[in-house]
Amino acid sequence: MTKGIVLAGGSGTRLYPMTAVQSKQLQPVYDKPMIYYPLATLMLAGIREILVISTPHDTPNIERLLGDGTQWGITLRYAVQPEPRGIAEAFIIGAEFIGDDPVCLILGDNLFYGKLDFLRRAIATNDGATIFAYRVGDPERYGVVEFDAEGRVLSIEEKPSRPRSHYAIPGVYVFTSDVVEYARQLQPSARGELEITDLHRVYLERGRLRAEVIGRGVAWLDTGTPEALLEASLFIHAIEKRQGLKIACLEEIALYEGLITRDEFFIRVGQLPKCSYRDYCIRIADEISER
Ligand code: G1P
Repeated sequence: MTKGIVLAGGSGTRLYPMTAVQSKQLQPVYDKPMIYYPLATLMLAGIREILVISTPHDTPNIERLLGDGTQWGITLRYAVQPEPRGIAEAFIIGAEFIGDDPVCLILGDNLFYGKLDFLRRAIATNDGATIFAYRVGDPERYGVVEFDAEGRVLSIEEKPSRPRSHYAIPGVYVFTSDVVEYARQLQPSARGELEITDLHRVYLERGRLRAEVIGRGVAWLDTGTPEALLEASLFIHAIEKRQGLKIACLEEIALYEGLITRDEFFIRVGQLPKCSYRDYCIRIADEISER
């Protein structure tokens, strides 16, 4: 069974002073803390055992927010990344948790909206490393993947000043369990981090990297700057208002996915304070058929 890791590290300096006392991944994206969104993505991809990695300062707060996961029918564990030493370090920190299982890592600030079957498909078929490619207007801000005419990966670069393509690599990746060993062999980059793109290159050199393009029908949103955060909030607000449905309501997803029973759902919802989130859960319950 593929396990999940949500990496919610980093100091969020670009969002200062919002991040002076509370991490980036706990900031609101419209009506929920940011970390709800990547968690929802993993749950919708069929992942049930998840390790949340954050800073020594933020991990206790995130744990207070999310608990052990039983309220959503999943298992949540926590681990600390003492210093911001790179995304790839998550596999070393999570080595014991991963064990011999495949793993899907998502960054705590990556929001996906739309038809997310690309992730379920990748998890079902991955045999090495699977990354995704998403066309953006500003690839220099991301990991960038370049393809040949047949769709094979030619190169991978981290935040290149002259990107070779418009395809950014979103912060969600699927790996076989040998990622732990490869991560241990990595050398820190010039900025002192174990780079996720270096890990991808290891798989690329061994012919075990697959890149799948995520079509434009899926929204991949960024939350790195105050403006991007506001835009993400406005996006979520616009869709939620129009459809009368919430994005990343974890209680709803748990019921929909059959992770909790209707009784368990109502016990959980009954414990929530009176608020629009709770009203929504009560309203939506009848639309979700029990499995
Ligand atoms: C990280 C990765 C980058 C990826 C991005 C996606 O960058 O290093 O390859 O494209 O996440 O969000 P960061 O934004 O953490 O600097």
